[in-house]
Amino acid sequence: MTSGWSLFVIVVTIVNILACVWLLRWTAKPKHAGEKIGGGSDTGHTWDGDLREYNNPLPKWWLWLFYITVVFGLIYLAMFPGLGNFGGLKGWSQAQQYEQERAAVEARAAALLAPFASMTVPELATNAQAMATANNLFQNNCAQCHGSDGGGARGFPNLSDGDWQWGGDPDSIVQTIAGGRMAAMTPWGEILGEQGVEGVFGVIYPPQVAIVGLGKITDRARVDNGAVVARKGLTATLAADHRVSDGHRGALFLAALGRLLQEPEKLAQKP
Ligand code: HEC
Repeated sequence: MTSGWSLFVIVVTIVNILACVWLLRWTAKPKHAGEKIGGGSDTGHTWDGDLREYNNPLPKWWLWLFYITVVFGLIYLAMFPGLGNFGGLKGWSQAQQYEQERAAVEARAAALLAPFASMTVPELATNAQAMATANNLFQNNCAQCHGSDGGGARGFPNLSDGDWQWGGDPDSIVQTIAGGRMAAMTPWGEILGEQGVEGVFGVIYPPQVAIVGLGKITDRARVDNGAVVARKGLTATLAADHRVSDGHRGALFLAALGRLLQEPEKLAQKP
């Protein structure tokens, strides 16, 4: 907040509080004889035949509650942030309290996790306390996708069966959880190798923006110095997301790829 705005907020706040005090005092003073509690003066409004609206000042205890509120407000504004940029005499801040609470939680978590740090995965799996902590972590971080029992859902693998896509040994599981897995590359080997597909057109899986499909290397008829000769060749195709790139850049990329495949030693050279 600029100091101009800060001053504006301070003035508006103080003036409002003073106006409240003035209003309380003004309405608390009887203006006519009989305008006191039980004094008998009424506004002249009558409902349901005999229900008269009285014009009595607030009872004293109620009035004092208002004054106490005002005093509380002033003490609060002196102690805590509230008046423009003034930070309050106690030096308290939300961010500071958040940091303190976070540090306390982290210290508790560190103490809880410390005994597990030196254990191996198979040891952890048989440790009841570790598994109880792990269950809490799983329910908080993993259950929304893998299900509360780890049974999986459509599109999310079942973690409770013996079937592992990325390997079920401890190291693979740690790698899966810590590094993440993203199955986007379909296995081409079988299709290309056994069926000898010469052209492959890849499908982009977001967040990827381009994919190159490489066909099988086959003998192809090429014209060289006016004669038809057999040459090895392969078909490379590029599928690209037009929101990110365009055809011209794609063509340049494919041309560069073609040159490098013919002279792979260039890959090792500095550009
Ligand atoms: C946002 C959804 C989501 C959350 C949250 C999530 N996962 Fe997954 N998880 C997946 C998907 C999708 C796969 C499959 C990835 C693939 O095959 O490319 C997967 C795969 C796995 C695998 C590999 C399974 C196998 O067969 O190899 C393990 C292990 C795993 N998750 C554990 C966890 C753990 C532990 C957590 C919590 C810390 C977690 N996941 C949180 C979506 C999620």
